[in-house]
Amino acid sequence: MNGPAPGHSAIYPGSFDPMTRGHLDVIERAAKIFDKVVVAVVVNPQKREPLFSLDEREAMIREAVSHVANIEVTHFRGLLADFVRSVDAAVIVKGLRVVSDFEGEMSTALMNRSLSAVDTVFLPSDPRWSFVSSTLVKEVYNLGADVAKYVPPAVLRVMQSKRPTSPRST
Ligand code: PNS
Repeated sequence: MNGPAPGHSAIYPGSFDPMTRGHLDVIERAAKIFDKVVVAVVVNPQKREPLFSLDEREAMIREAVSHVANIEVTHFRGLLADFVRSVDAAVIVKGLRVVSDFEGEMSTALMNRSLSAVDTVFLPSDPRWSFVSSTLVKEVYNLGADVAKYVPPAVLRVMQSKRPTSPRST
């Protein structure tokens, strides 16, 4: 079976607001498939104003992936298709948690392929993380839940620093 061509890298793009254990799992698995994985944080997520600054999001990811050698963390603004072309990456990697993820991701993948002839490789999320999203983690955390099992320790620390009061104390 042919693997990826030597030197080929994959882009793993996202808002990472914040990174979850589901993201980390996809990155670790992609790093075993590709020579290099470039985790690319979008500067301004389209959905809403991010809770974490770009610097915070990048720093949390860097710490969480520090045990894996072939990972780079960077950011991009504007079109992902342009960024992928500018770094000459082989593919985009995206995780799929549930079937409903597929609908949006499929049209995004086709648009990116149309714009820059880059393909997207989907990795199925580990079932342990299939219900975990950055949005839900923030919501339950703000309501006092313990999110240690859903986010890497580096992320938990920053989250705790943003909420000085202890869980369920107010
Ligand atoms: O973590 P997310 O929110 O699912 O990541 C979405 C992201 C950043 C991959 C997507 O919004 C994106 O690619 N944004 C860059 C702007 C762009 O290229 N939009 C057109 C996509 S076809």
